[in-house]
Formats: sequence, structure tokens, C-alpha cells
Amino acid sequence: MVPVLIVDDERNMLLSLQTIMRNEGYESRMVASAEEALEALKKESFFMIISDARLGGMSGYELLEKTKEQNPDLPFVLITAYATPKLAVDAIKAGATDYLAKPFAPEELLHVVSRCAERHKLLEKNQSLREKAREAYRLDHIIGESPPMVDLRKLISKVARSQATVLILGESGTGKELIAGALHNHSERSSENYVCINCAAIPDALLESELFGHQKGAFTGAIKQKLGRVEEADGGTIFLDEIGDMSRSLQAKLLRFLEDGTFTRIGGNQELRVDVRVVAATNQDIIETIKNGQFREDLFHRLNVVQFRPPPLRERGEDVMLLANHFLKGFNVVMNKSIQSISEEATTMLNHHLWPGNIRELRNAIERAVILESSNEVQPFSLPDFRLSTELGKVRDLHSSFIGSLDEQIVQFESEVIQNMLEKNSYNQGKTAEDLKISRHALRYRMQRSNIPLRPENQ
Ligand SMILES: Nc1ncnc2c1ncn2[C@@H]1O[C@H](COP(=O)(O)OP(=O)(O)OP(=O)(O)O)[C@@H](O)[C@H]1O
Ligand SMILES: [Mg+2]
Repeated sequence: MVPVLIVDDERNMLLSLQTIMRNEGYESRMVASAEEALEALKKESFFMIISDARLGGMSGYELLEKTKEQNPDLPFVLITAYATPKLAVDAIKAGATDYLAKPFAPEELLHVVSRCAERHKLLEKNQSLREKAREAYRLDHIIGESPPMVDLRKLISKVARSQATVLILGESGTGKELIAGALHNHSERSSENYVCINCAAIPDALLESELFGHQKGAFTGAIKQKLGRVEEADGGTIFLDEIGDMSRSLQAKLLRFLEDGTFTRIGGNQELRVDVRVVAATNQDIIETIKNGQFREDLFHRLNVVQFRPPPLRERGEDVMLLANHFLKGFNVVMNKSIQSISEEATTMLNHHLWPGNIRELRNAIERAVILESSNEVQPFSLPDFRLSTELGKVRDLHSSFIGSLDEQIVQFESEVIQNMLEKNSYNQGKTAEDLKISRHALRYRMQRSNIPLRPENQ
């Protein structure tokens, strides 16, 4: 930790303060005048200043004023032999953290110092968390050169700078959280807080209090006042993930909040206001939830100022291998391995899989491969059995994922029907052709046309 700066023109006092500090494990730097202190502040950082009020030359009060101008957050403790209540009040008003009258017990001073040290550590931790978040959510960490991904990155940097509310719609694992983070990081709000709330993970009864806070005694268990996360996000961005899971009554309160930034804590009667940008996401079919009355249409329109639709991985073409190699590199580093590449057969498998779990599924597959693979190339047998994941994918409404011309959609649908039947028949082509009521030759032709492998992917 950085040292404390001690300012006193009495050498004995300096030495005894230094000893008190050292015994508690604090580093200290000592100077004999306010002028020297200002010089030191230019060159070094300190977690707090302890200064005598009366110094030769510039006084401790003047030093306090000067440092508050340049460094308003730096804790400042004044020590004086001539304490009067008025001086104490003046010092606190001028921004001093505390005011100690000589003589004082070392514990009195140490109490203040430890409070300041704790605060300093907390600030540092916040700072590093924020930096880490910023690092993780850089635009160039959103991998993909397929046209929709190139457009997506462009749209992020354009929209980030606006204040617009954003709604992100996409299947599970398509990178919605990544987009939300990048929107904050590339905005003018990036130095302020970024608060994420997963609406599905918090029980409905608690979500309102989490979002908007509560007053002491507002409900059983509300033993003290709690600030809302929207207050924490003031000046910054709040990301409401899985917004489709929010109850209708809370949706109404959110709507009001979106209109003008006002809200009331549960049990409170004061209307509060913050300046927060809202980004929301869901992997549900939002139109469906509106139709069945689960989601308010007015809230949808209010959120849907700008809409992002990260495409499912199966529509991103060569991005599959780009991402696979990106994750391979990353996991090599993390697991201290050096797997050079992905074999041809494994590449075919990755390219043919439909990725119902999207990028998350791919990332997990590569992580697993890096753990299991003992050669220097990812082989098919270190990839997961994709049949299970494909089964899961079928549960979803596959038709909604088709895009393109009628012909393209028909070919895609055909390819899925064939793959499903092949899997059901353990890749026995005779049986599959029979079940589909086509000739073996026709089956082979269609498989080739759709790039369907002849054998099960993982054998
Ligand atoms: N384009 C991308 N480039 C690199 N990594 C990505 C990309 N898209 C997603 N990822 C990674 O894939 C994983 C899943 O992404 P993310 O959590 O953003 O998905 P999601 O859309 O929020 O999913 P869910 O709806 O399940 O919450 C994360 O580890 C994320 O870092
Ligand atoms: Mg998510």
C-alpha cells in the first residue's frame, strides 16, 4: 500500500508519529513544512495526509485547502495543540476527515488511519474491478468476420455513444452480455459504474428492492435502508439481463423509470431521480411473450429504441473456426498447453454441428478438448458427443431460425431432417433412405449437397 504523508515542523512529533505508524504496519513519509508536502504530493501518491495545524510558513489549514482543490478525495487529518470547537468545525467544513487535539492517545489516531486505509483499499479494488471489466468488454474481443458480426461491431460503436435504450434479442450464448458490456465501455459513461442484474436469477419478490431499494422496515426483513442498484448505476449503465422474466407489476415500475429516471424505494414516499442508461436483453421470443400477456407491449416499445440481434452461431459461417481457434489459443495459455491446431476431421465436425448453445457451447467444447487432447492437434475424440446438444436444439422451434430465400430455407430444412434421421439410425444410410422414402443414391446426393458427413461426427 502507498504511504501516509506526515507534516510537522517538530522533529520529535514527526518521529513519534512515524513509530506509531510503523508499529501498525503503515509506511510513512515525513516532511517538515506544507510547502514540502505540496512538492511531495506532486511526485508521489499517498493514502492520506496527517498534518499539524500550525507550521512555520504555510499553515496546516492552508495546506488542507490547497490539497482539497487538487485532490478532493484524499483523506486529511489535522492535529493541533490549540483546539477550539470553532476551529474543529472550520476544519471539517474545509474538508478534513478528522481533527485531533494534542495530546491524543495513539489509538485515537490509529482509529482514523485504519478507516482511511480501508477506504483506500476499497477504492483501489473498485478501480481494478472496473479496469478488468473494461478490459473484458472491448469491441475487439467480440470475435467474428462474418458480415452480420462486422455490422454488429459497427453498430455497437455507433450506438454506444448515444444515450439510447437498447434491447438485445438473441438465443442463449450468442454474446448478449458481451454486447451490453461493450456498449457501456465504448460510451461516455464508461468511467462510471456498470451494473448487471439478472432478472431471472433474483426471486421476484426481491427484484424490486434490488433494483429500486427499500426503506428500513418496508417489509419483514428490511432491517435497514437499502439503496437500489439504479442508484449505484447513477451516471453509468444498468444491464437488465433476462428481462422477459420480470413480473408485470415490476415492468410497470420499470416503464415509469424509463420515462423520466424517477423511482421510489419500497416503503419510501420520496421520489428519487437518477441518470442511468438502460440496456436490456432476453433470449425469449419477445413477441410471443407479448402475445401471451407475459410482457407489456408498452415496455417493449420503450426498451426497443435500438435493437441488437446477435445471430445464432450456425448462421455465422466461417466464424465457427475463427472462434474455435481463438478459444484454443486462450485455453492453451490458461491450461499451459500448446495444442497447435484443429485437425481436419475435427474441423468438419465443428462445421457441421448446429450449435444450439451457440458461442458458449463452442467455447465449452474447445475448453474440454484442450483438457482431454494429448496430441498437438485437436482430434475428433476430444470433442464432445454433439448428438445430445443437437437433440436439445430440436426442442426449440427450428423454423424460426431459418433465414434466406425459399430455396435456401428448403435446403437447410432438408439438411436438418436428413441429419436427424441419420442420427436416429446411427448413420445407417440404408435405413435412413428407407425411413425417408428416398433412394440411397438420392440420400447420398443430398448429403453431399449439404456437406453432411458420412459417419457420425464423433466416431
Ligand atoms: N463474438 C464473440 N467473440 C468471443 N467470445 C464470445 C462471442 N460471443 C460470445 N462469446 C463468449 O461466449 C460466452 C457466452 O456469451 P454471453 O454470456 O454474452 O451470451 P448470452 O447471449 O448472454 O447468453 P445467455 O442468453 O445464455 O445469457 C461468453 O463466454 C462470451 O465471452
Ligand atoms: Mg447472458
